[in-house]
Amino acid sequence: MNIKEEMSNFKAMVNSYKLTNLIIAANNIGIFNCLTERDKNIEQIAKKLEVMSNRIEPILNGLVFYKIISKNENGYYLDEYKDVLLKGSKFNQTGYINFAQTIMKKYNNLENAIKNNELSTSNFEKLTDEQAESFVEGMQANAIPQAEYIASKYDFENHRILDIGAGAGTYLINVSKKYKSVTGTMIDLPQVSKIQNRNIEKEKLQDRLKSVSCDYNKDFPDGFYDAVFLFAVVHQEPDGNLKRLLNNIYSVLKPNGRLFLTSFFLNDDKISPEFSVQFAIEMIVSSQNGKVYTHREINDLLKDCNFSNIEIIDEIPSPATLYIAQK
Ligand SMILES: C[S@@+](CC[C@H](N)C(=O)[O-])C[C@H]1O[C@@H](n2cnc3c(N)ncnc32)[C@H](O)[C@@H]1O
Repeated sequence: MNIKEEMSNFKAMVNSYKLTNLIIAANNIGIFNCLTERDKNIEQIAKKLEVMSNRIEPILNGLVFYKIISKNENGYYLDEYKDVLLKGSKFNQTGYINFAQTIMKKYNNLENAIKNNELSTSNFEKLTDEQAESFVEGMQANAIPQAEYIASKYDFENHRILDIGAGAGTYLINVSKKYKSVTGTMIDLPQVSKIQNRNIEKEKLQDRLKSVSCDYNKDFPDGFYDAVFLFAVVHQEPDGNLKRLLNNIYSVLKPNGRLFLTSFFLNDDKISPEFSVQFAIEMIVSSQNGKVYTHREINDLLKDCNFSNIEIIDEIPSPATLYIAQK
């Protein structure tokens, strides 16, 4: 790299916050929802959003520059990213924007959190109902494609399933909608369990599914299960807690029962892949004890807890990796 490139690349990295803030502001003032029906010119958009047209124009043009929306002689419209921005699309990711906003606030605390782990603000400690709603919305946006992948790829006929830290309940609900013979239990913290039961009722699945409030570090449900789901949970726990959790899971699985887990895993060099490297940094602000495991570490933990036939699936629609391990 010559010095000119070096300076320009460095400034581009420093300036990356500008795009994030542009997307968040555009979403929060309602630009994306405003563009869902048909092309709109600046005056129409300004009137609908109750802002001045000269203040909204640079924002719209910036979004066009980044190809997030498009522009023609009639005005602005959703194009390239319409599936993730259209209201009502099943791939809608605007919930993820709300979630990112919560994480961004934590990132402002990165410097302090590096110096003192007690200053990390846990995603789950003292969760208010409002924070739980926003967090679950973000989880849901992330989970839908993966849940559909898992429901379509694996056989869960006649399964009894335990979904630990089930978030919005996306995985168990999707699998139960595909397999009418599935029954199951979700466990989560009280504020989130409440949302899960609401989602179960919304899908009219309360005769087959339920959610129970349970802190998996303090308590664990009884029963025998054909499959246990542990999606996006392992990184929340340090080795000791995770080992106890995996042992508990092993004990409630029926013989040959399968554990399905996902997380973002690091390669042994710990500097790849990109998402996991970034996630390890995020964990500094959002968790006092959590950890991003390497593939070797999670493999070793599963084997220590007597799991066998460990499969690693990277093709799920996410930067996460799916592990399947059998009792
Ligand atoms: C990152 S979210 C994953 C949600 C869901 N499995 C998914 O992938 O969409 C982690 C979940 O674990 C739950 N959780 C965190 N600590 C927990 C604990 N000690 N006991 C039970 N659930 C917990 C959170 O409330 C949240 O729903």
